[in-house]
Amino acid sequence: RQYYSMDWKSQIDKDRIPQHIAIIMDGNGRWAKEKGKPRVFGHSSGVTSVRQCSEAGAELGLQCMTLYAFSTENWNRPKLEVNALMTLLVNTIRAEVKTMMDNNIKLWAIGEIDRLPSKAQSQLREAIQTTRDNTGMTLNLALNYSGKWDLTQAARKVAARVAKGELSAEEVTEEVIGKELSTYLLPDPELMIRTSGELRISNFLLWQLAYSELYFTDTFWPDFRKEDLYKAIVNYQNRERRFGKTSEQLVQ
Ligand code: FPP
Repeated sequence: RQYYSMDWKSQIDKDRIPQHIAIIMDGNGRWAKEKGKPRVFGHSSGVTSVRQCSEAGAELGLQCMTLYAFSTENWNRPKLEVNALMTLLVNTIRAEVKTMMDNNIKLWAIGEIDRLPSKAQSQLREAIQTTRDNTGMTLNLALNYSGKWDLTQAARKVAARVAKGELSAEEVTEEVIGKELSTYLLPDPELMIRTSGELRISNFLLWQLAYSELYFTDTFWPDFRKEDLYKAIVNYQNRERRFGKTSEQLVQ
């Protein structure tokens, strides 16, 4: 594509790198279909993009990158595809531990992990354990995740604390809720990227995306490379983040 002649990386302002980028990796199926291949070929090809993005993010010094790898709704896909995705996840996590160690990446996961197949759970726990002392970027996989699930489980925990008399209903603040969300250790994403031309949030990080800049590209996930990530960051840096203030207030 034409913009590869642009050197996006050199245009990134190193002092304004987002701390957290969240990505909806979309378009694997359509990418495969265009090539006359089965959908799962799109998913396995998407692993290269996962590696490229996590390496680029670690090199740039991001604190965190969250990848939407499997949504709660993805269980509704044909059983064969769900099984293939789970096998791919297990194998990819196992195979990529070395890349993570080489790049000082710490693996983390959010979602209803205990409802994943036991093999996926154990592989995930093992990789999280192996990479736990790495001090670079956190690679956070959203697995069996949905934003509504996250808010619901947080509400349950807060309700239980209120029921126990630990705090009153009036003491339920945004901060209290934020601390019960699965992302409590992570800053909110400044930038959310979705590939494949779909313009939706699709039950991803609903609370955490409140002030995020949204970036959409027509590129299918298996074609997404480091340069595409750099381009998204440059685009983000060229926007003005106002948080409800006026432009004039920001200048001060
Ligand atoms: C969306 O494309 C993609 C997924 C549902 C799966 C993403 C998973 C991977 C790329 C494997 C990554 C592995 C790790 C360890 C993170 P789609 O199937 O919805 O595509 P379509 O919209 O064209 O049908």
